[in-house]
Amino acid sequence: MEKFKESLIFLSPVIPTKLTILFENHAGYRKGLIGYHGFSALVEHNGRKVLVDTGTDGEVLLKNMEALGVSPGEIDALFITHGHYDHTGGMKAFLEARGKEIDVYAHPGIFQRRVALKPKLREMGIPFTREELENLGAVFHLSTKPVEFLPGFISSGEIWRNHWDRAVGYLVENGEYVKDPVKDDIALIVDLGKEVAVITGCGHSGIINIVEHAVKLTGKQIRALIGGFHLRGASQAMLEEAVARLRTLSVKKLYAGHCTGIDEYAYLKVGFGEVEPLHVGKVIEV
Ligand SMILES: [Fe+2]
Ligand SMILES: [Fe+2]
Repeated sequence: MEKFKESLIFLSPVIPTKLTILFENHAGYRKGLIGYHGFSALVEHNGRKVLVDTGTDGEVLLKNMEALGVSPGEIDALFITHGHYDHTGGMKAFLEARGKEIDVYAHPGIFQRRVALKPKLREMGIPFTREELENLGAVFHLSTKPVEFLPGFISSGEIWRNHWDRAVGYLVENGEYVKDPVKDDIALIVDLGKEVAVITGCGHSGIINIVEHAVKLTGKQIRALIGGFHLRGASQAMLEEAVARLRTLSVKKLYAGHCTGIDEYAYLKVGFGEVEPLHVGKVIEV
């Protein structure tokens, strides 16, 4: 019997950790995929499927999911990187399409009211109440602390900020507008054994802080940093520092999209080299 088990292990194919982009600013190359400002990705690891963010719009998310053969019912958990509308806007439609409960992991700050003031006042926060989402089956697990919520799936918890960050917008507190530090910006860390992959929604905590946090938390190096890096409009000095620190921290590969910025992507491509762009339908095996 033991010998049989051994041969089974030997014959079992190694299932790679896989990430599929479901919602991104740019459409992919396949017919039927829609590009729209926002971010969502499916992460398959250790036999589990975690949906990271839900993009801006539920209709677009569900169309892209269908085109890519992903069913809302097959997802094991939902991870929300932060409460901005372009990462949470698809939640309601996703929950309605799913029709059953799902565990949702996020920071307790995701439900804060937040706005942009320029060029005119507009809402930037999650466009639903917690109660509305709970009534549709969302079971919230909100924490500021790191947590391994499924085997190999680690929520970063609140991110230490030792360097520049990329916070945007304003919170509305007692009728006053106060700068929003986007404290609820967290990353998903996927434990790959000797290394980790890090998935960031918008990177408001600053990509250098996010990488340093993940390395400090896990004691492992970064095989892939994937997501929105929020570098659009970053100064030359910031970009130079980003490239230098990513090299010092031995990050192997970047997959940059969403709010990274086109000029800033080009800078990373020239300065760092190991960079690929994201688009809807892109599959990354790490
Ligand atoms: Fe975003
Ligand atoms: Fe954001």
